[in-house]
Amino acid sequence: METLLADINRLRRERRAVILAHTYQAPEVQDLADFVGDSYGLSVKAAQIADADLIVFCGVQFMAETAAILNPDREVLMPDPEAGCPMADMITAEQLRQFKAEHPGAPVVCYVNSTAEVKAESDVCCTSSNAVKIVRALGDVPEVLFVPDQYLGRFVEKQLGRRLVLWEGFCPTHYTLGPETIRKMKRLHPDAKVMVHPETRPETQDEADYVLSTGQMVELVKATAHRQFLIGTEEGIIHTLQKAAPDIDFIRLSDFLRCPNMKKTTLAKIKTCLETRQTRITVPDDVAAKARVAIDRMLEISARK
Ligand code: 13P
Ligand code: SF4
Repeated sequence: METLLADINRLRRERRAVILAHTYQAPEVQDLADFVGDSYGLSVKAAQIADADLIVFCGVQFMAETAAILNPDREVLMPDPEAGCPMADMITAEQLRQFKAEHPGAPVVCYVNSTAEVKAESDVCCTSSNAVKIVRALGDVPEVLFVPDQYLGRFVEKQLGRRLVLWEGFCPTHYTLGPETIRKMKRLHPDAKVMVHPETRPETQDEADYVLSTGQMVELVKATAHRQFLIGTEEGIIHTLQKAAPDIDFIRLSDFLRCPNMKKTTLAKIKTCLETRQTRITVPDDVAAKARVAIDRMLEISARK
């Protein structure tokens, strides 16, 4: 491990590489990254990178694609390009075109957990940290199409007290967490507060004290007086939370909250990626140009006070 880290550190300097990692990455990957964040934080970071020749993205395909769209002149590499997101693959561009045809004139809000082609067919993107703000910014339009995550969509509906037209995608990892597990864990840890991600099912969210994106979870634990939390999102976040708040006791709600795709990145693959400059993630220019409009609109609305 020591020599692997030394090799990675030498290569990242030689290549002028910046390493970005999602909070669901393995602890050792998070620890060597230049920046660790949620999907929104990583998009903002990717849009601001100035002094690097290449970006090594430790996350899943849609995140690396977003970084590539925001950095057309820079190489964006994935240590394992097979790390996809099953939810993102639950809607294709062709299916979205058909969905739009069934609801003429309705704006499309697309969760960043989607392919570049689907973003290109959408009016605005959102992440779990800004979905409520983005939908609210559309104003009082009769219909809004929300793709692909039905549960994030249901969370937005509840916050805004309005209906959306939802695509029936979901995250297979977060789906596994049911309300009965939370009830059981609350009985075992009666002093703990419960945080879950909005990709969990509505009945699961109903059992939680907080429904937050991963970035919002990190912000909350830096400021809270609570000393124990039960965590209902991918297990990689525990490492991020523990670093942000070393004195708090974080307990995972279940052993099934492990995204196999997020765990495909390893230190050995990062080293090979830096050595070989493989695998580059690219998006065709016409698709990237259209997808960028939806991503930039999200960044602009999200930055509003
Ligand atoms: P965040 O938006 O909280 O980073 O979540 C991304 C994701 O893939 C959740 O499963
Ligand atoms: Fe996709 Fe779920 Fe994995 Fe997030 S945790 S990358 S939504 S499969």
